[in-house]
Amino acid sequence: MPFQPPQRYQSPHLPFGDRRDAPFYGKHILSVRQFQRDDLAYIFGVAHEMREMVLRIGAFDLLKGKILANLFYEPSTRTAASFVAAMERLGGSVIAINEVRYSSVTKGESLPDTVRTLEAYADVIVLRHPQEGAAALAARYARKPIINAGDGTGEHPTQALLDLFTIREELGTIDGLTITMLGDLRYGRTVHSLARLLSRYRVKINYVSPPVLRMPRDIVRELEAKGIPQAEYTTLDPVLAETDVLYVTRVQKERFEDPALYDRVKDAYVITPEVMARAKDRMILMHPFPRVYEITMDVDQDPRAAYFRQMEYGLYVRMALLAMVLGKA
Ligand code: NCD
Repeated sequence: MPFQPPQRYQSPHLPFGDRRDAPFYGKHILSVRQFQRDDLAYIFGVAHEMREMVLRIGAFDLLKGKILANLFYEPSTRTAASFVAAMERLGGSVIAINEVRYSSVTKGESLPDTVRTLEAYADVIVLRHPQEGAAALAARYARKPIINAGDGTGEHPTQALLDLFTIREELGTIDGLTITMLGDLRYGRTVHSLARLLSRYRVKINYVSPPVLRMPRDIVRELEAKGIPQAEYTTLDPVLAETDVLYVTRVQKERFEDPALYDRVKDAYVITPEVMARAKDRMILMHPFPRVYEITMDVDQDPRAAYFRQMEYGLYVRMALLAMVLGKA
């Protein structure tokens, strides 16, 4: 008789105390396309509660005993650190594989095998990978939730969620705003996710980039079909005065095939106090970071510079997401 594996290997069991009916329980987070407007309101509500809790008591044990595997095939400071902080502030712990160089990936292990290994030890996997579609591939093999922390030039859904949460917390609303995205709109995955997520609201979007770094056509068409007004520019001047959110991005050096092209476009736009002087009084300046040339450090004191607060909002959004996929929110 052929060997029959024990039943429990085939169906994931439900750990004691998890809420099966919780929205997002056991779900992968792969693309912002999976979020409707009421999902967003729910996530932001939970993130807001997480913020209150952290400010009031620092840490609590909602995810005590749970383990996160943080699997990063590309460099990261904020995303990796904020997922660790999120898990630990919720009482859980983390297996951090930040340098796949030191793991069996170097020996030629495939992504599906690495993911199936880690889910033997962890309850949820956060994955960053240089290939578009990597998180979706991992999710096909995984029984536990995969959270996409950036797949090449594809998407960065948790960043877009924290970007929207930032706008909501800082400006009170998203409807009615004019958002201007500036820089590398072609390779920047954060703006790909953000544009798609913004299409759930009544917004106007301006894209400012060198012609070679325009927003991909499929994303522009996707938003067009939803009736979102969009306009493209090569300079910031025509739209600065009407902008409520200026979202600046880094030129993604590592994604360029032609280094000479990178050198030509790398400092196409630089935000300085002089630029900020021409912006609205009530607006915010955002950047997913790392910044290289795009915003000078003397802009940091401007109260409209929201990028350091944006990082902190990321902690609360990631706490919310972890609690949700693990059935505790
Ligand atoms: C971004 C990324 O990795 O896509 N960083 C981040 O997660 N905050 C942006 C970038 O690398 O420029």
